[in-house]
Amino acid sequence: MRDVMDMKGRSLLTLSDLSDEEVAGLLDLALRLKQDKHAGVCGQRLAGQHIALIFEKMSTRTRCAAAVAAADEGGRTEYLAATEIHLGKKESVADTARVLGRMFDGILFRGYRQETVELLAQFSGVPVWNGLTDLSHPTQALADLMTIKERFGELAGRRVVYAGDGRNNVATSLMLACAMSGMHFVNCTPPSLKPSDDLIAHADSVASQRGGTVRVAHDPHEGVAGAHAVYTDVWTSMGEEDQFDERVALLRPYQVNMDMMQATGNLEQDEVIFLHCLPAFHDHRTKVTQKIGALEVTDDVFEAPFSKVFDQAENRLHTIKALFVASLEKG
Ligand code: CP
Ligand code: NVA
Repeated sequence: MRDVMDMKGRSLLTLSDLSDEEVAGLLDLALRLKQDKHAGVCGQRLAGQHIALIFEKMSTRTRCAAAVAAADEGGRTEYLAATEIHLGKKESVADTARVLGRMFDGILFRGYRQETVELLAQFSGVPVWNGLTDLSHPTQALADLMTIKERFGELAGRRVVYAGDGRNNVATSLMLACAMSGMHFVNCTPPSLKPSDDLIAHADSVASQRGGTVRVAHDPHEGVAGAHAVYTDVWTSMGEEDQFDERVALLRPYQVNMDMMQATGNLEQDEVIFLHCLPAFHDHRTKVTQKIGALEVTDDVFEAPFSKVFDQAENRLHTIKALFVASLEKG
């Protein structure tokens, strides 16, 4: 059995880098850190530590969560927009990694290729955390689990239904996180957007060893039945904007609206929450949606009391802080 005490010096590139116990330990640590912060107590667990934040893609939550997490514990961060450093252009990723590893104690990376975050980890010699790639979004999944745990206590046995683009980074990381926690996970998505059979089989086998299940559903109303958490994400991820029109047409039936929330059968008893990693297209107030309105979630669901999306966003801070502390705290 491994716990967070064994995470010193280690990277998080996908959730498979963690044991179930480490995931549970990180959630417990994040809950304690949240309680402390709300009580006005912060520490010096990252005193003297420097963390590089390399971003190829845009970010609000992940970037701010990392900056505030480090500062809360006496550490500091340096934001490096990939367009402003040599990474992969005038210098190989391996060389940049070796330079940053001589100066920084850890690196958080957000970008396109999973291979880039793997190379950073391989060559820097310091812990590297995946802050989202095309393939996975493991730090998001930690905040997702934390938010469900805050609402329901025990994770095992709870049912999470993800509705939308079932093969994207958020959906597949959530699928594995739920499986590792012994939950029942339904990936509700059109046939053309389901994760690979290998990924589903792996997640289902992880879940079944812990009393959970993983399955794919194509009928949104059947898929959502019994859900304790209904989760969605944007229909086109960063880098896929050219597929916007076809995704909107394909995913309309998977929009999370009040009908879908009713179909869980848990709305009247207040036994279901709505989750979204954010940013979300829930109304007309964005450049993308000003003409077409809500996409993956309707405004009434997004703004409902059962919507926990801003708790979830705040929990990005506490879970990323837990990760930094577990990997970097000295002594
Ligand atoms: N959920 C999430 O990763 O948000 P950002 O893109 O704002 O970091
Ligand atoms: N799937 C989305 C998540 C954003 C936080 C994307 O990759 O753009």
